[in-house]
Amino acid sequence: MPNFLNGLDTDIRAAIIAQLRNLWTHGSTALEGNSLTLGETAFVIEEGLTVSGKPLKDHEEVVGHARGIDMVYDMVNRMGDITESDLFNLHQAVQTSVIYDVYKPIGHWKKEPNGTYIIDGDKQVFFEYAKPDDVLCLMNKWLDLLNTLIRSCHGRDDALTAYASLHMAFVWIHPFFDGNGRMARLVANVPVLKSGFPPIMIPKQDRRDYLLCLSRYSLNVGSPDSQSTVLPMNEYLIQFREFCNKSWKESLDLVDEAKRIQRERKGLSVV
Ligand SMILES: Nc1ncnc2c1ncn2[C@@H]1O[C@H](COP(=O)(O)OP(=O)(O)O)[C@@H](O)[C@H]1O
Ligand SMILES: [Mg+2]
Repeated sequence: MPNFLNGLDTDIRAAIIAQLRNLWTHGSTALEGNSLTLGETAFVIEEGLTVSGKPLKDHEEVVGHARGIDMVYDMVNRMGDITESDLFNLHQAVQTSVIYDVYKPIGHWKKEPNGTYIIDGDKQVFFEYAKPDDVLCLMNKWLDLLNTLIRSCHGRDDALTAYASLHMAFVWIHPFFDGNGRMARLVANVPVLKSGFPPIMIPKQDRRDYLLCLSRYSLNVGSPDSQSTVLPMNEYLIQFREFCNKSWKESLDLVDEAKRIQRERKGLSVV
């Protein structure tokens, strides 16, 4: 288990893990339009019961994301490199649609091109993510970057840089037909957790600023192709790193609170 849990009694430890899981799942799925509240998300995950009148898909999505978090912790606790099949397994957890569609593969790279509209001043421009034929090559470079950053991550600044870089590169490539945002917000945390810190979670209320950061970066560097370096550097990546730094506060505060409760209980300091 990550270092931020060190020195905490079992019950406090279990509570902080659950709190982080609920907030991470709720924040990340709400960013994508999930209608469950934080309380409903926790209820569905913990009780396995449904919330009357809410879409089945929203229930499946939060349960799948919570499973995805467990898989991320497994990657953190395991020795050895993270591989393509780790990402495919995670995608299968996150993408819960039961309808089989050969053009929308679950647990495999996308088969069809995808893109998004970006509003640039007064203009609306179409931005195309990596072409399906370029994804394999780009994602091999992305996995190399992930495994390199995991090995070279030594403190808070390194962990933050690794998270922002991996998150940005993942959504810029957009290797899956869907689920790219939730995947990025999960796997970019592997080096953060491995370095002993709680996960960075993008607050749902900052959705506009978050998408603005990603759009500015994408517009500035253009669409990726197989020749691209996995993460061209520019000022917008630095701005995104700062955005991620602010987003980190929520989980760091939760851990500080857990440590305060532990100190009060024991009447002494914990590391
Ligand atoms: N202009 C952009 N450039 C790069 N990534 C973007 C841009 N706009 C949105 N995104 C990312 O794409 C995600 C949505 O992609 P999608 O595959 O539907 O993921 P999910 O199903 O998890 O929502 C957003 O959450 C965000 O992370
Ligand atoms: Mg989506």
